[in-house]
Amino acid sequence: MNPYSLLAFLQVQASNLPERKIANMFRPLASPGESEKQVALLTFAITGAIFVVVGGLIVYTIARFRSRPGDDLRQEPPQVYGSNQIEVAWTIIPILIVFVLIGVTARVVAGVQNASPPKTTTHVTVIGHQWWWEVQYPDYGITTANEVHIPFSLDGAQATYFMLQSMDVAHSFWVPQLSGKTDVIPNRDNYLWMNPKAAGYYYGNCAEYCGTQHANMQIRLVAEPPEDFKKWTLNQQTKANEASEAAQDKAVFLSLSCVNCHMVQGTTAIGKFGPDLTHLMSRREIGGGVIENNRKNLRAWVNDPQGIKPGCLMPSLKLTDRELDQVVAYLETLK
Ligand code: CUA
Repeated sequence: MNPYSLLAFLQVQASNLPERKIANMFRPLASPGESEKQVALLTFAITGAIFVVVGGLIVYTIARFRSRPGDDLRQEPPQVYGSNQIEVAWTIIPILIVFVLIGVTARVVAGVQNASPPKTTTHVTVIGHQWWWEVQYPDYGITTANEVHIPFSLDGAQATYFMLQSMDVAHSFWVPQLSGKTDVIPNRDNYLWMNPKAAGYYYGNCAEYCGTQHANMQIRLVAEPPEDFKKWTLNQQTKANEASEAAQDKAVFLSLSCVNCHMVQGTTAIGKFGPDLTHLMSRREIGGGVIENNRKNLRAWVNDPQGIKPGCLMPSLKLTDRELDQVVAYLETLK
């Protein structure tokens, strides 16, 4: 066990998942990320060596052959015409280097793409929307948004397979510490897998420019112990909270046009255009990662989404203060 995952393990034991906010792709915590890092380092090493040799020769030449006081400026330097040996060498060596890089890269790409799934596999379908992520768990009948929960194991035996689809334009799914980026293309299924070896709340992004709010199409990937993942799925499978004290607030919410775009399982809100709100309060952030999910932000968001995420597809419904309070109060029951 490497010290980093041991640390992560201890942090999990302390119940709070460590935040992996600086998405450092040079500190990978899953198999695809590790092999991709090795290829990147090999490429850096080879190209770095070329840089040093070429740069060194240029510096040497500038210093050694610069004009000196007393040189006859009218006289041409000696003209040297080609050397077959040197020309053959600088043609063949770069070709060999390029073939080494192609070979190594192709081997790793094939290794990542053809790896057969470990015994325990979770299937997740991620659907890119402008500008948020729909997340489905076909085996569990769960639909959620932006926050992807998956199990992790210290030995990497828990893998998750993602099927990537797009509702509108091209996006790209990227959680840098776990795996390379994979394009999310309309009318096409792309695949990606990862097996986190450390728990954490990983930060990721859409990595393909997809319109105004591309930068605010963030991914939150929660890699948690299998028991916690199981608990999470059980909670997500339950219908929306039916607290009777929220009945009035609920009625207000259901009377508004929120229901045309949003789903709340077990109610008449069956819209599919925007994120599923059934367990909204189980997510840490709203608006595709723009703001933290708390009462104040939720109220500000419902009041004026365009003020917070200009260009997003949710309109302001121009609710009264009382309606806003009631809608937010109802949303807060959706745990
Ligand atoms: Cu979606 Cu950029």
